Amino acid sequence: MKLLHIDSSITGAQSVTRQLSAIVVSRLEKTATSLSITYRDLAAEPVPHQSPSIQFAKLKELHDIGALSGDIGEMVDAALKEGAKVEPSAQVEFAETNVALEEFLEADVIVIGAPMYNFGVPSQLKAWIDCLAVPGKTFNYTATGVEGLAGAKRVIIASSRGGIYSESSPIAAMDHQEPFLKSFFSFIGVTDITFVRAEGVSIGPEQRQQALDSALVAAAAL
Ligand SMILES: Cc1cc2nc3c(=O)[nH]c(=O)nc-3n(C[C@H](O)[C@H](O)[C@H](O)COP(=O)(O)O)c2cc1C
Repeated sequence: MKLLHIDSSITGAQSVTRQLSAIVVSRLEKTATSLSITYRDLAAEPVPHQSPSIQFAKLKELHDIGALSGDIGEMVDAALKEGAKVEPSAQVEFAETNVALEEFLEADVIVIGAPMYNFGVPSQLKAWIDCLAVPGKTFNYTATGVEGLAGAKRVIIASSRGGIYSESSPIAAMDHQEPFLKSFFSFIGVTDITFVRAEGVSIGPEQRQQALDSALVAAAAL
């Protein structure tokens, strides 16, 4: 079984999600018979953000294998005839985004340390998710709607936030972290999504400890 372990917190040794994601991975190591682990620290080594030059490199690759048709195909064809080129630096960045995608596609289980920063996920984590959203690889648009292609995976999200957003919280609507992650992975077909959550960690030391304790109990039950 292949496990992909992702961290994205910028808070180093203080990080709650790094602590939780590590505990989840060590729990899975104990229960799985054989586990090969790939680790990616998005704060230390961010994947490139999507850009016009990466987008062009992606379109050129599709053009070269004849997978582009319609208006976009014609547009890329015209741009290439006018001398548009993929710069070597864009090719390198595009290749890096593909490595991130391949690591995801190869994994059976993905454990993601996902803090809430400014009501959403860290931009480093968003950039990684952008690498995964590739038509034909993780999803397809069909006549009847979207078809997710990444169904047979388990995603476990180690989540932490300073405030309390779950259940009947009056600020639940401000949570653009967990609902975003749930929407994205559901969109690409993943149905097995678990959150191991510590929340309210900025309220005070007591609440932080309580939140950590309950997240550890949830991790132990995986
Ligand atoms: C840059 C930054 C932005 C944050 N934004 C929010 C926020 O919008 N809402 C919230 O409840 N907590 C927020 N927090 C608190 C974190 O969600 C909380 O400290 C959590 O434990 C972060 O995960 P980490 O410890 O793994 O970095 C923020 C913290 C940082 C460092």
